[in-house]
Amino acid sequence: MKRKALSNVHSDNLYEQIYDYIIERIGRGVWGAHDKLPSIRTLATEFNVHRLTVFKAYQLLKQNKKVYVKDKSGYYVMPENMLLIDSQQNPIISAHVQESSLSEIHQVRADYQFSIALLDPNLLPNHYFSEYIKKVFNLYPKVLGTYSSIQGDPELREALSRYFTDQSHFYLTPDELLITSGSQQAIDLIARGLIKPRDTVFLERPTYSPAIDVFRRQGANIIPIEIHPHGYQLEQVEGLMREHKPRLFYLNPTFHNPTGYTVPAEQRKTLVEMANKYQCLLIEDDPYPDIYFEKKPPLPFFSYDTAGCVIYIRSFSKYIAPGLSIAAVACRPSIMKYLLNTKSLSDSGTPLLNQKIFLHYFFSERLQKHVEKLRIALEIRRNIMEEELSATGWKWATPMGGFNLWMKLPESTPMDRLLEKSIEKSISFVPGSIFDSLKEHQSWIRMSYSYLNETQLRDGLQRFVHIYHSLTSTQI
Ligand SMILES: Cc1ncc(COP(=O)(O)O)c(C=O)c1O
Repeated sequence: MKRKALSNVHSDNLYEQIYDYIIERIGRGVWGAHDKLPSIRTLATEFNVHRLTVFKAYQLLKQNKKVYVKDKSGYYVMPENMLLIDSQQNPIISAHVQESSLSEIHQVRADYQFSIALLDPNLLPNHYFSEYIKKVFNLYPKVLGTYSSIQGDPELREALSRYFTDQSHFYLTPDELLITSGSQQAIDLIARGLIKPRDTVFLERPTYSPAIDVFRRQGANIIPIEIHPHGYQLEQVEGLMREHKPRLFYLNPTFHNPTGYTVPAEQRKTLVEMANKYQCLLIEDDPYPDIYFEKKPPLPFFSYDTAGCVIYIRSFSKYIAPGLSIAAVACRPSIMKYLLNTKSLSDSGTPLLNQKIFLHYFFSERLQKHVEKLRIALEIRRNIMEEELSATGWKWATPMGGFNLWMKLPESTPMDRLLEKSIEKSISFVPGSIFDSLKEHQSWIRMSYSYLNETQLRDGLQRFVHIYHSLTSTQI
C-alpha cells in the first residue's frame, strides 16, 4: 500500500494533520454525507502512525460534529445540513430543503417571491443603462480586449477610495481596495485565504446563510453569536473571544440580513477595540448602508479601526446594479496580499467592462439622486408588508432599512407544511433555520419586501396569511 506522508513529525500534532486531511477530503466532496470513512486501522497503516493517533483525530471530528459513529460499524460523514423539514413527498420541496440552501430556495419559481432579497428591477433606471455602456465603449474602445488587473481597475479604486473617505470616514489609499465579483466572492476569498481547518470563526446567529456554508467548507469551528435588535451582548462576546481565540468574526451589522437589525455606534467602537485586544479579524459585510428609512446608520466598523483588524466588504449588487456584480473590499496591506493571492487563483480579475460601466454609472448624478427615490419606494413597501401582516399576531422588530422582515410565527406553526403549501400556491419565503448555523429558529421566517411591487405585495401577503390560517385552523 502506498503510504501517505504527514508534513510534520512532531507526534503531538499528527492527529491534527489527520483531522485536516479528513476535513479537506470531505470539503472537496471525496467523501459525501453519510459515507463511511476509512477505518482506524486503514488510516494508521496509510499514514504510518499509531492507531491511537487516528483515534484521537476521529474523536475530535466527532466532537466537532463532522462525523458520527454507528455502533461497531465505524465513522460516517455528518451531513452538513440536516433536514430542515420532512417533506420527502414533494420533490420540489425536498430538493431545496435537503440542501437547506438559500440558492435552492431562490430557484423555486413563484409568482410571489418573498424569498428574494433583491431590488425589484423595475425600480432601477433601466432606460438609461445603454447611455453608460455607449460612453464606456467610446472612452475605452479596447475594453473588451483587456483583462482588469487582479486588484481591480485603478481608476475605479481611486474613485472609490475618495468616495469611502467622504461618505464613511475611511482613510485609505486605492491600494487598500480590492474589487471583487460581488461580496459573495469576497467572503469566499477571505475564507480560503485566511481560514484553515479547525480555526474558530464567529458567525452571527442568524446570519447570511451562504457565509455559514463557506466557512464550514473551510473546516472552521463555528461559534454562533446572537444578534439582537440592539446589537450583541458584548460581555458574552468578550468571554467567548477570551475562551476561543477566534481567527475572525463575520458580521453584517447594518440592516442585517435576515433580521434588519443594526448594531449601534457605541458597540461598534467597543467591538473594534475588543477585536484588536484578542487579535480577531472583523469581517464587516455591508451591502445595504444606503437603504435607510429615517436616519443614516452609524459609521462602519472600519472607520473606527486604527489597527487593521477590520476587513470591510461593500457590495454594490443589491440596489445599484446586480447585473454587474461589483463589490469592493477595504483592508490593510498585510491582509491584502493574501486576498490578492487567492483572487488570482479564482479568476483573472473582475471583468473590466463591468468595472468601467459601474464607475461611470455609480458616480453619475442621476444614480445618486435615484438612491433617494429608492429609499422612499422601499419604505412604502415595508409599510405595506407591516400593514398586511398587522392582524396576524406574528412578532417582528420594524426594520429601519434594508430589504427584509424577520418574523416569529407561533411555535406551533407547521413550518414544513406552510412552505410546501405556499410553494404550491406560487408563494416563496425563506424558513429561518436556513440562516442559523444550529439549524434552529424553526418558527421564524424571512420575507423580503424589496422584490415585488405594491399590488403584488398586498395580494401575495393576503394569500399567504390565508394559507397560514387554513393550515393552523385544521391542526388538532
Ligand atoms: C449580507 C450579504 N452578504 C453578501 C451578499 C451577496 O452579495 P453579492 O450579490 O454582492 O455577492 C448578500 C446578498 O443577499 C447579503 O445579504
